[in-house]
Amino acid sequence: MFDAPFLVTSVKRSAPRISARAPARVPPRWRTEVERVLITEEQIAQRIRKMSRQIVLDFTGREMVVVAVLNGTVMFLADLIRNLSLPLRLDFIGLSSYGLGTESGELVFTKELRLDVRGRDVLLVDDILDTGKTLQVVLRKLHALKPRRIQTCVLLNKAARRTQQVEADYIGFHIPDVFVVGYGLDFAERYRNLPFIGVLYPHVYEARVPGSPPAQNLIPE
Ligand code: IMP
Ligand code: MG
Repeated sequence: MFDAPFLVTSVKRSAPRISARAPARVPPRWRTEVERVLITEEQIAQRIRKMSRQIVLDFTGREMVVVAVLNGTVMFLADLIRNLSLPLRLDFIGLSSYGLGTESGELVFTKELRLDVRGRDVLLVDDILDTGKTLQVVLRKLHALKPRRIQTCVLLNKAARRTQQVEADYIGFHIPDVFVVGYGLDFAERYRNLPFIGVLYPHVYEARVPGSPPAQNLIPE
């Protein structure tokens, strides 16, 4: 998005638009908490293979540095980079927002980059682009380190909630304005291990209002 010569808009345009319709049944273990599956494992795998092919084409010829935002990228990143048959180095940046609910609060860096990205081609990976605050803060930080270029890659784009002027160069899926979990994405640090992307029942996250019992009380042990 910052270096115009690398036009990857076709990838953005071709990202599937996921509707609120349920494509698959929720596995029995998760049925009390997860209302529906929004994106299946198979859909994710297929889409990542396609995105990876485009990234490989765009980054061929130079060693790239993949910078992933912790913790939500864990599964996406693992699947993405095993499809990138390119020389690359990997580093993580940690960012946390205060507040455990579904809204992001004040952002604090919890882990700094260790690799030197000056003059490098960086692929910044995040799980979901929501308001855009996270990506904006990370991009500002990365730009100050003077890489040659930065391309951004997110699995999910929730455009309806954007408050900042930031877009991703590679997008897995455009999703509606629903709070999603699974495949690395959490609610209060839970559900990251679901192999699919699902939508929680409102009772799971609505319990997180001040004074009410914490959401974990609703989760069967
Ligand atoms: P943003 O700063 O509002 O763009 O939000 C980005 C971060 O908020 C992501 O990296 C996620 O950690 C979190 N987030 C936003 N929407 C969701 C969601 O639907 N499910 C889980 N996490 C989310
Ligand atoms: Mg999160």
